[in-house]
Amino acid sequence: MKYLSNENELEKKIFINGREQQHVHLDLNETGLGKKGWKKLRLILLVGFLVGLASLIAGVVIILLAPKHPYRPDLKWYDKDTVYEILPESFKDSSFKNVYTKKGDGVGDLKGILARLDYLKDIGSKILYINSIYESNDEDHKAIVNHTKIDEIYGSMEDFVELRKVTKEMKMRLIMDFISNHTGKQSQWFLKSQKKEGKYTDYYIWTTCDPQTYRHDLMVIGRGAWTYDDTRKECYFHQLESDKPDLNLWSADVRQELESILRFWLDKGVDGFHVQDFQHLYEDKILGNGTLVNGKTDSEHKDLNRIRTSDNLNYPKLLKAWKTVLESYNTKPGREKALIVTAKDDLNTTMEYFDAGVTIVRVNPLSDSGASFAERIETKLKDANSKRIGWMYGDKYSSRLTNSLVGPVQIKALLTLQATLPGAPFNYYGNEIGMTDHPTLSPPNKYRTPMQWNCKGTGFSQNTPWVDRNPDYITVNVETENAIGDEYTTLKVYKRLQELRENESFQWGTMSVNRDGDLLMYTRKADGFPGYLVAINLGTSKVTESFHAATGIPKEVKVVFHTHKDDNSAISLSDTSYILDPSHAVVLEYQ
Ligand SMILES: *[C@@H]1O[C@H](CO)[C@@H](O)[C@H](O)[C@H]1NC(C)=O
Ligand SMILES: *[C@@H]1O[C@H](CO)[C@@H](O)[C@H](O)[C@H]1NC(C)=O
Ligand SMILES: *[C@@H]1O[C@H](CO)[C@@H](O)[C@H](O)[C@H]1NC(C)=O
Ligand SMILES: *[C@@H]1O[C@H](CO)[C@@H](O)[C@H](O)[C@H]1NC(C)=O
Ligand SMILES: *[C@@H]1O[C@H](CO)[C@@H](O)[C@H](O)[C@H]1NC(C)=O
Repeated sequence: MKYLSNENELEKKIFINGREQQHVHLDLNETGLGKKGWKKLRLILLVGFLVGLASLIAGVVIILLAPKHPYRPDLKWYDKDTVYEILPESFKDSSFKNVYTKKGDGVGDLKGILARLDYLKDIGSKILYINSIYESNDEDHKAIVNHTKIDEIYGSMEDFVELRKVTKEMKMRLIMDFISNHTGKQSQWFLKSQKKEGKYTDYYIWTTCDPQTYRHDLMVIGRGAWTYDDTRKECYFHQLESDKPDLNLWSADVRQELESILRFWLDKGVDGFHVQDFQHLYEDKILGNGTLVNGKTDSEHKDLNRIRTSDNLNYPKLLKAWKTVLESYNTKPGREKALIVTAKDDLNTTMEYFDAGVTIVRVNPLSDSGASFAERIETKLKDANSKRIGWMYGDKYSSRLTNSLVGPVQIKALLTLQATLPGAPFNYYGNEIGMTDHPTLSPPNKYRTPMQWNCKGTGFSQNTPWVDRNPDYITVNVETENAIGDEYTTLKVYKRLQELRENESFQWGTMSVNRDGDLLMYTRKADGFPGYLVAINLGTSKVTESFHAATGIPKEVKVVFHTHKDDNSAISLSDTSYILDPSHAVVLEYQ
C-alpha cells in the first residue's frame, strides 16, 4: 500500500513538473530490480500512459469534428412529399340512397375522402390538397358565398374537423384553396356593398355608369368587365363571369377579412393554401387603367384609375402579407406553412413569386412551346433546377394530358418524370391509375369525371354521379390495377415510384439534364448516397444509348426501376448500352 501511494506521488509530481522526478526518493531496494531498472520501467509506463492519453484526446476530438454521416439537409414537408390533389365532388360519394326516395346526391364529399385515406396512404400521398369546398353559388365552387363555411353538398364543419383529426394521426398534411379575388353575388359582403352599408360600401369595385352602355358589355377574362347593378345603380367590376364580382383588394378592410380567413383555417390545422391563376392578379395590375372598360378611356374613369393605380397595394406586398400570417403559425419545427400558387410558368415571373415569399410555384412540365417534346421538357428542367416547383399534369381547369404527342401510352413514362424531379409532384386524382380526359364531354367536365375505384360502375357512388364517368373505367380502375397478376399496371408502377422517391438522391440530390434526340436523361445525386440516372424515351421509336458515354455516369450500374415488364431483356451488359422502347422509362443506380 505504501509502495503504491509512493508510485502515485511520483506520477503526480512528474505529471505536474517533469523535472521533479530526479528528486523523488523511493525505497526500491526491496524489489529485484535495480534503481536504474525501475526508473526505466517507470519512464516507459509514463510515456505509454501519456501517449495513451494523447491518443484518447485525439480520438475524442476526431469523433467530435468528423461528420458522423453524409450531409442531410433539413428538408421541410413541402420539399419532398407527394401531393395528392382531390376534386372532392368526384373522389368518393359517401351518401347512401335514401330508402324512400331511392335517391342520393351522386356528389363526392368529405366523408368519402375520410373513407379512402388508407388508399391514399398506401400509394404514398403525404399531402392532401382538397379543391374548394366552401359554400358557393356555382357548380365550380369559385363563386364563394362564405369562405369559412363548408358547402353542405360536401358535408359539415364536423366532417372537416374529423377529416383533419384522422389525417393528422396518419401524418398527412392538408392544403386548401384560397380564393381571394372575388366572391359570389350571394355573399353577405356583396349584399351589404350593394346597399352601401358602412365599410362594405368599398368591398367591391364600383363605378357610376350609364346602364344603357354597360349592361350589355361582354366579359373579357383577364381584362375585366362591368355589370350594371339595379340595387346600387352602379356598375361593379368582374374579371370572370358577372356572378363573381371582384373584391376590392385596395381596401384595407378587405385585406384584413382575407387574412382572417387564412387564420380561421390555420386554426383548424390547415398546413397551406393554394392560389389559382395568380398571374391574372399581376396582369390586372398592368392593365389597371381605363382600358379595362369596353370603349371607354382613362379620363372617363378617373376615380377608378385612382384606386387601381394606388401605391397602397401591389401583389408582391399582398403575397408577403399572407405569408406573414402563415409564418405566425410556424411556431416550432414541423409547423411550417406553405403558400402555393399556380401560374403561367414563365420562369422570370416565377422568381418574383419566390421573392415575395411563395413556397411552391405549380407549373405543368408539358405546356410551353419549343421544338420537340423532349427538348421542351429539357429546357424546362434546366430552368427549374433547384427551385421549388410543383409539377402537375392537369387539374380541374386543365386537361390531364395537354400535349398532342401524349397519349395514354406515355402515362407511365410521364409519371416517372414527375416522381423523380426535384420539387413537389402534384398528382391530380386518378392520374396514378392512368385516368384520361373524358372522350366526349366538353371542358371542364371532361377533366372532372368520377374516380374509378372498380370495374362495377366505378365504385364512386351508389347514386347517379353528378358527371358522366369515363367509359374506360372497366379496365382503368384501382381494384383491377391492384389485383395480383400484372406487376406493371399504372398503379403499381406509381407506387414503386413513390418508394424510389424516398431515396436521398431523389429527395435532395442535384440534377443534371442531358438529351439525345427524343431520349431525355437526367441524373439525381446526393453526396454520400447512390446516384440515379433517369432515362425516358419520349419519341416514337426505339433508342439505344450508352449512358456512360452520354452522361458520364460509371459503367457499373444497376437497373432499379423500369416502367414495362419486358424491359429487362433489353440490357446489353457487354457495352453497358441500353435499348429503350418508345414511351418507356428506366432508372439506373450507380455509386
Ligand atoms: C359564414 O358562416 C358562418 C357559419 O355559419 C357564420 O358564422 C359567418 O357569419 C358567415 N360569414 C359570412 C361572411 O357570411
Ligand atoms: C380568381 O380566382 C379564380 C379561382 O381561383 C381563378 O380562376 C381566376 O383566374 C382568378 N382571377 C384573378 C383575376 O385572379
Ligand atoms: C395605363 O396607365 C399608365 C400610367 O398612367 C400609362 O403609362 C399606360 O400607357 C396606360 N396603359 C394603357 C394601356 O393605356
Ligand atoms: C427573363 O429574363 C431574362 C434576363 O433578364 C431575359 O433575357 C429574358 O428575355 C426573360 N424571359 C422572359 C420570358 O421574359
Ligand atoms: C430506394 O429505392 C429502392 C429501389 O427502388 C427502393 O427499393 C427503396 O425502397 C427506396 N427507398 C429508400 C429509403 O432507400
